[in-house]
Amino acid sequence: MRMLLAGNWKMNGLRASLGEIRALKRGLAETPPRGDILICPPATLIAEAAKAAEGGPVAIGGQDCHPLPSGAFTGDISAEMLRDAGATAVILGHSERRLYHGETDSLIAAKVKAARRAGLTAILCVGESQAQREQGRAAPVVAAQLEASVPAEIAAFDLVVAYEPIWAIGTGKTPRAMEIAQMHETVRALLTTRFGADGAEIRILYGGSVKPENAAEILAVPNVDGALIGGASVKAADFLAIIRAAPGL
Ligand code: 13P
Repeated sequence: MRMLLAGNWKMNGLRASLGEIRALKRGLAETPPRGDILICPPATLIAEAAKAAEGGPVAIGGQDCHPLPSGAFTGDISAEMLRDAGATAVILGHSERRLYHGETDSLIAAKVKAARRAGLTAILCVGESQAQREQGRAAPVVAAQLEASVPAEIAAFDLVVAYEPIWAIGTGKTPRAMEIAQMHETVRALLTTRFGADGAEIRILYGGSVKPENAAEILAVPNVDGALIGGASVKAADFLAIIRAAPGL
């Protein structure tokens, strides 16, 4: 399967940061990647980031969208607007949106539908908290999130799933390779139950403290089809080091 390495800049980046996208493009021109590379900058930078990335292998995505195409929703951005600005994908249901914006599975399902309507790939995030893992509930929590946040109408090829254990995000902690393998196998089984053979083609990314130092080990885990990278995606040098560490990329 073709790997996807996606960078989530979160609420980081001013126009000066567009230089990182140009540096990434330059770095990849020397050794073109065999997988897909995506950067999701803040919405304010999408249009310029898409321009900066033009002609190279780096695609640009959003970090959230509203379920509707337009309307009286002050401060919101629709999937169509992301697409119009040059995005080809959007991260949805990130744990920071679930936590700080009270996003529910049903709202996230509506956003996944919106992504499809606008022709964007939806990168749907799921993941358990520290407490849920300690209680042995990690797999059922992730299964329930997946069940409730993948809308009925979605086609497998529009979807990427990112498993991001909340306790691993920005903490420097990661699950052991075996724990990642178990969860990704669980997600794969759920996707094939849901989508049949197409479910085997859906990329399942791992996210949470992926760094140049641990990328090779994590990306070699079965059913890990790429990574969603926060902190280490903001600097081109770090992101390039991760890309170079990826097996087969
Ligand atoms: P970090 O890579 O900074 O831990 O963030 C992971 C993440 O939340 C990506 O969406």
